[in-house]
Amino acid sequence: MAGTQTDVSALDRILTLEIARVTERAAVAAARLRGRGDEMAADQVAVDAMRQELNRLPIDGVVVIGEGERDEAPMLYIGEEVGTREGAKVDIALDPLEGTTICAKNLPNSLAVIAIAEKGSLLYAPDVYMEKIAIGPGYPANTVALDASPTENIQAVARAKGVSVGDVTACILDRPRHARMIEEVRATGAAIRLIGDGDVAGVIHTTDPDETGIDIYLGIGGAPEGVLAAAALRCIGGQMQGRLQLNTEEKIARAAKMGISDPDKIYTMEEMARGDVLFSATGVTDGNLLQGVRFARDAIVTHTIVMRSSSRTVREIKARHQDLDKFG
Ligand code: FBP
Repeated sequence: MAGTQTDVSALDRILTLEIARVTERAAVAAARLRGRGDEMAADQVAVDAMRQELNRLPIDGVVVIGEGERDEAPMLYIGEEVGTREGAKVDIALDPLEGTTICAKNLPNSLAVIAIAEKGSLLYAPDVYMEKIAIGPGYPANTVALDASPTENIQAVARAKGVSVGDVTACILDRPRHARMIEEVRATGAAIRLIGDGDVAGVIHTTDPDETGIDIYLGIGGAPEGVLAAAALRCIGGQMQGRLQLNTEEKIARAAKMGISDPDKIYTMEEMARGDVLFSATGVTDGNLLQGVRFARDAIVTHTIVMRSSSRTVREIKARHQDLDKFG
């Protein structure tokens, strides 16, 4: 199959570097609007920049997780065809600015993110909520489960890690819907890192607890962010489950149109992101794993992590861009 138009592996070496450019461009555009209090403007420039760069990639891509469904998003909508259309047929999941509010407030952990996978291998999730649980690599299979209680999951992580429950930290989005879960986790004696936004970063942070201080991610966030996080975890290793929150007839119908027949299904990480997956994230604001964009006197500095599931290669790319015209 090497060299045919549908063979992703024939392109992976090129794409591994090219994919970084896509998130770098989006991150730089958004970073120029950090701390300006305008979420929509920051998101828009990131979308424009990502789309421009994405359309240079030698792929025949379709956005399956994007800025929204076709009638509600002018660009990078679900179903939009991207790339030069001359390369491998791939699915794309993207979020040009994950954590729009974080960026607008210049708080930690907003990212530009994208995943490229073999066609048909990402979960086509509607833009609804998803209940998620995630831990990093190195744990026995099925250490945590969405069907178990937060207490059972925290205790299982402590046992498997060989530490006391008091030494476990859970990351949870700070939302009223999580009040009972937060209470329950605190009652176990575990610590919580409450985040205002940005659960793609929250999930990724479980993969390096020594660096981030986070052992487990719990709670309900966006389904598109869930698929992106699953794609990242597939590359680094870890465990994740997600359950779409299809709690109205309208949402069930929307999901059905995307091929989802069981509204209560719990998806494993592999069911959300199968096959060979490439993932790239560039820091917009400073974060626990990635530094945000720096505008230096003669260069723009970006920090990106690029990963690939089939080889488990994780590359960190600190780029110093001196051709400033390129970034507009
Ligand atoms: P945006 O980048 O679209 O603002 O999303 C930020 C985010 O915090 C996600 O990381 C998370 O999955 C979702 O919003 C949670 O949704 P809500 O803010 O409605 O609780």
